[in-house]
Amino acid sequence: MSSLAVIPGDGIGPEVMAEVLKVHAVVEDVFGTGLKTEVLPWSADWFLEHGDVGIDVLAVRRDHAAVLLGALGDARIPDNRHAIRIIGGLRQQLELGVNLRPVRLRALAHCPLKHVTAVEDVDLVVVRENTEDVYVGVGGAVRAGSPAHVAMEVGVHSRWAVDRVVTAAFELARSRRRRLTLVDKSNAMPSAGPLWQGRFRAIAASYPEVECDHLYVDAAAMELIRNPARFDVIVAGNLFGDILSDEASMLAGGLGVAPSASYDPEDGSFAGVFEAVHGSAPDLVGTGRANPLASVMSYSMMLGRLGLREAHAAVERAVDEVLCGDLLTPDLGGTARTGDVGDLICRAVARH
Ligand code: NAI
Ligand code: MG
Repeated sequence: MSSLAVIPGDGIGPEVMAEVLKVHAVVEDVFGTGLKTEVLPWSADWFLEHGDVGIDVLAVRRDHAAVLLGALGDARIPDNRHAIRIIGGLRQQLELGVNLRPVRLRALAHCPLKHVTAVEDVDLVVVRENTEDVYVGVGGAVRAGSPAHVAMEVGVHSRWAVDRVVTAAFELARSRRRRLTLVDKSNAMPSAGPLWQGRFRAIAASYPEVECDHLYVDAAAMELIRNPARFDVIVAGNLFGDILSDEASMLAGGLGVAPSASYDPEDGSFAGVFEAVHGSAPDLVGTGRANPLASVMSYSMMLGRLGLREAHAAVERAVDEVLCGDLLTPDLGGTARTGDVGDLICRAVARH
């Protein structure tokens, strides 16, 4: 029997994770996936009480087949040290270099763009490099607090990490509509630009069936709104991928329905970390307004990556059904509560 590590985290993390665990219990009943769960209490509370003692990222991979993560972020830890230690630790120490962020419209009403007239027009995946760029913590500041304060945040891009994520993006594009767009800012980034461009072209040679395309990130931000149907798979560095995926999520209803998967394509035994794109949403805590679907959809991506096809398909159908109905949380214009949506998913999976 394999094990899932469950990190509910902070804010709405535990609220949405409770719904995922309800769904998992039904999936277990119906499909017998043999996945038991172990809750890891790593959160802001944990950090304030114990520091990082007991936070052992490598043990997670040793003991578990995958991680389900709620969200991390708490105003009591303003520099986000605990989230960087836990999420950053998982991504970097476990080499989870590929972050998939799919955006698929399930009901036309959830798209805020009047010119989108078919759900098929919004069906894309942002493939984000997950370990480098300006998130590596390389930099420094001098004369902080004075008028002469200077800060540097260095973007790191290695050939091997670029190769890993670009290859994963080509593989994904090949299994979808066979169109891959590289997004960068090579016109203004003369060091990182040629590395991404050169490796993209080199790897493209092995995928002649995939149509390649390139956009600068500023133009890509605009094109996502102007003509989302032009996108199938987008590959980008860590910073641009982060920003574009939040933007793209709005095309399908926003952060409440934006899932993600982070994984190491070369690790056959550990499936990765599966978490909603959103954060801990302190404005929603305790209100029952948090949409659990982003976390349920992340759980579904995990089932897919673990090869549990039937269970994955059943949860996907349940999500489709709920998103096409009218029992929705307030972010999608409804009045349902977090637990109502979780219950609906459970019933739909049970009926699969
Ligand atoms: P956020 O994603 O928590 O919230 C942004 C907006 O989206 C808010 O208006 C919120 O109400 C709404 N929202 C988020 N999740 C929702 C859901 N499930 N249903 C309905 N509406 C939802 O981002 P924000 O406010 O910038 O950050 C809050 C905290 O979360 C910060 O401490 C931040 O560092 C942390 N954070 C953590 C992430 C993670 O755990 N991977 C990712 C992003 C932020
Ligand atoms: Mg983000």
